[in-house]
Amino acid sequence: MIKFICAKDYDEMSRRAANVISAQLIEKADSVLGLATGSTPIGLYNCLAERCAMGDLDFSKVTTVNLDEYKGLTHDNDQSYYYFMNKNLFSKINIDPANTNVPDGTIEDPEEACAKYEAIIAATGGIDLQLLGIGHNGHIGFNEPADVFPKLTNCVDLTESTINANARFFASIEDVPTQAYTMGIQTIMNAKKILLVANGAGKAEILKKSFFGDITPQVPASVLQLHPDVTVVGDEEAFALIKDLI
Ligand code: PGA
Repeated sequence: MIKFICAKDYDEMSRRAANVISAQLIEKADSVLGLATGSTPIGLYNCLAERCAMGDLDFSKVTTVNLDEYKGLTHDNDQSYYYFMNKNLFSKINIDPANTNVPDGTIEDPEEACAKYEAIIAATGGIDLQLLGIGHNGHIGFNEPADVFPKLTNCVDLTESTINANARFFASIEDVPTQAYTMGIQTIMNAKKILLVANGAGKAEILKKSFFGDITPQVPASVLQLHPDVTVVGDEEAFALIKDLI
């Protein structure tokens, strides 16, 4: 089942999404949270950090597994997702760093890197709640449009659209990595709950395609229509084309 929560703007979207994660942690203090990077979840992470600082949220028993990581970037590269997560969330909450996991982009051999990450996820006992952003082309994690849904953690060649979208974070487009390690669609679908966040008019079309269009690997997020427990939190602009359908 898909639940849609329409917030009026980015701040409200962030707070509403933080409510979903808060509810998860109240329900199960030792939850395994699947986390995401990108610009969309930053407000949500700020919100979680504020609630933690106030003593309203406790991450001391939480384990996290992140969706993806650029291949070839070291932990101290400020564009690596490892760096992003520490800067935007882990350093601001009372989580044990040993319980945080991001695919290791420094492992050269994709087979080794992907198998290692799947083993880490399996060792957590499974993801309770997976947070997702959505790409303009419908990618979730770095699972790009393809002929089949990639199953497990895999090494992907990033599409031109994704490289262009990410170029704003790098000094030049040549610096944007061209490959990444990402959880697969099955890895994501195995999460007990999914929370997808989207804001801005640029996401309106893809939200409609993903949740009201055909289920196809050409729109990776469309697979979420088959998941039993999905919550989509977006702002009014992102929901512009689906508000009459929900
Ligand atoms: P964004 O990225 O939050 O920066 O829009 C989302 C995504 O590509 O998954």
